[in-house]
Parts: sequence; structure tokens; C-alpha cells
Amino acid sequence: MENWNEVLNQAKTSAVKCRCCPICNGLACRGETPGVGGKGSGSSFVRNFESLRHILLVMDTIVSNEEVDTSADFFGHKVSLPVYAAPISGIKQNYGAEMNDGEYSEYLVDGCLKAGTLAFTGDGMIDAMFTDPLDVIKKHGGLGVPTIKPWSKDAFTWRAEAAKEAGVLAVATDVDASGLANLRNSTTPVGFKDVDSLQEIKQLVAKPLIVKGVLSVAGAMKALAAGADGILVSNHGGRVLDDCLSGMDVLEEIVEAVKGRMKIFVDGAFRSGTDVFKALALGADGVLIGRPLSLAVIGGHVEGVEIYFQKITQELKDAMAMTGCKKITDITRDKVRFID
Ligand SMILES: Cc1cc2nc3c(=O)[nH]c(=O)nc-3n(C[C@H](O)[C@H](O)[C@H](O)COP(=O)(O)O)c2cc1C
Repeated sequence: MENWNEVLNQAKTSAVKCRCCPICNGLACRGETPGVGGKGSGSSFVRNFESLRHILLVMDTIVSNEEVDTSADFFGHKVSLPVYAAPISGIKQNYGAEMNDGEYSEYLVDGCLKAGTLAFTGDGMIDAMFTDPLDVIKKHGGLGVPTIKPWSKDAFTWRAEAAKEAGVLAVATDVDASGLANLRNSTTPVGFKDVDSLQEIKQLVAKPLIVKGVLSVAGAMKALAAGADGILVSNHGGRVLDDCLSGMDVLEEIVEAVKGRMKIFVDGAFRSGTDVFKALALGADGVLIGRPLSLAVIGGHVEGVEIYFQKITQELKDAMAMTGCKKITDITRDKVRFID
């Protein structure tokens, strides 16, 4: 395979529940959950995409001529760029592709490592939706981040112990999944976690803990109080609450409140290197990408993931070069501007 268009065209033949749109913006799949859409009217997924359209880059090309370096640090591990694969589970159920979550993770984790970065993996109602991806991370020396749903104590504990045993770099927990109706009504239900419960979770994982699904300064402060090492500013791809703010709507105020005290990641409809640049300029330490990387796996397996990251890396490099940024830390607030 040569390029992203070929990967996407190939994905169309297998991902029968996704329209594989050239621009993945949440419009065509509004309300399709299960499926790949946003919940209800689908407006939260659409909002993620639209928020990014209101931020533009400030060009500055009168600069020195050295090469751009996109590398960054993830809890002591060097990555080629601060962009990671978001946890996605239920590939068969949501995409209609003939691939279980273990196989999906084989391609995703390997592809991310070959691209010089890392994958977060998912979790679900069936134990194998967590254990199969975790086995893949373990096989790759722990280079990945399992994401544990906010289960009750026993179900959380065995997963945290398995993650520790696999030697993972960090553990994430998607606290916003507590609102997912199918998981609330399952035999081992998820539930809301307060600061005390998150503190217990932090003790259990004994690794850097990233709280996924924070969307307010108040939420960020609570994650910090619980001892979290990072937050992922996210509305879960618009899948947990309709008419919801996007991560980019609240990123800057969260950065002002907690920057330097914990790592700040963001996700939601990031589709290009310029999108990534916008988040970094507002103070994020990294960006996660979900749906397009799922299609990269479905359409091109390991190679598809590598091709997708080549595209994002080149776009990020171009954006940095044209704004006078030689390294990731040069991407500062003055490099972007909000427009109506
Ligand atoms: C089909 C599907 C399955 C998902 N499964 C999970 C999951 O198991 N755990 C989780 O934390 N987030 C899950 N997410 C949310 C993503 O991790 C991420 O927050 C979101 O998709 C990012 O937006 P993007 O896909 O528009 O890039 C899922 C999203 C989709 C579309």
C-alpha cells in the first residue's frame, strides 16, 4: 500500500458499519452507537471536529534553517511524536469488521511501535476485550497503555494487577464510561468514581495513572487531588453525553489550572498534523487519535498504522517548519489564534 487513500479504500470493504468518510467529522454517523457515531443527536462528536476549525496557525518563516524534531517524552519513554492511538474496543460490533479486539491490538500496538509511538488499548463487557489487548502489550515488553473501565473493586483490581504484571508504561481509566447504559446494566457493572475511589485506584495500579474523560477544571483538580499523573481531556468521541463540550473547548482553562503538575492529553476528532499542533500550542502534552487509526488497522493492518502516522508526522513537521518551531516545546500559545 502506498498512501492513506488506499488504506481507507481497503477499509471500506471490511468496515461495513462505518462509511469511511474522507473527512471523519461525525456527520454521516450521527447517533450510531453501537456503530462509530456520537451519542443521541451526535452533536458532541461533531463539536469535537468543529472546535478545531476555530483555531488557526500563525505563520513565521523568517527563522534558522535546521531540521524540525517532533520527538517527545511519555513518562520517561521517548516517542517520535506526541500522538498516540486512542483505546477503541468492540471492533466487530462497532465497525462490522471481521476482527476481534485481540487481533486489532496486534496490528495497532505493533504499528504504533514501528511508527515510534504508543497505543492505548481498550476494555469491555467481556474479559477478553481487556486481556487480549493486554497480552499484546506484554508481548511487546509493556510498551503500551491499557485503559480500564471504572468497574467495581474486584473487577478493577484483577485488571490492575494483570497490567502491573505485564510491565506496562502507564494505566488509563476512562471514568466517563460510568455513564454508558450497557455497562451500567452489565453483570459486573461500572460506576462513578469519586476522589477517594480514584485514590484507591492510584494505589492499585502502582504505575503512572491517566484519568480519561475529564472535561472541566473541577474534574482536573479532582484527578490531581487523587494523585493522578495525567488526564485525558476528552468527551469519549462524543459517545457518552449528547450536547457536550469538546476537549478543545476546555483545554486552555484546564492547562492554566494544572499545567506542570500532571500531564495533559486531549482527544476528539484530531485528523491532521495541524490539528495536533493546535492542541500542543494550547498547552497539551500529547494528543490521542481514535477512529482513523481503527480504519488504518482494518484497511492496512500494521502497514496501515505506519502509513497513517507518516501522514500525521509529515503534516506536523510542515506545520512546525512554517511556524518557526524546531522542536515540540517551541509550539507555544502565540503560534495559534482563535477565530469566530
Ligand atoms: C468504536 C469506539 C470504541 C471505543 N472504545 C473505547 C474504550 O474501550 N475505552 C475508552 O476509553 N474509549 C473508547 N472510545 C473512545 C476513544 O478512546 C476516544 O476517546 C475517541 O474515539 C477519540 O475521538 P476520535 O475517534 O474522533 O479521534 C471508543 C470510541 C469509539 C469510536
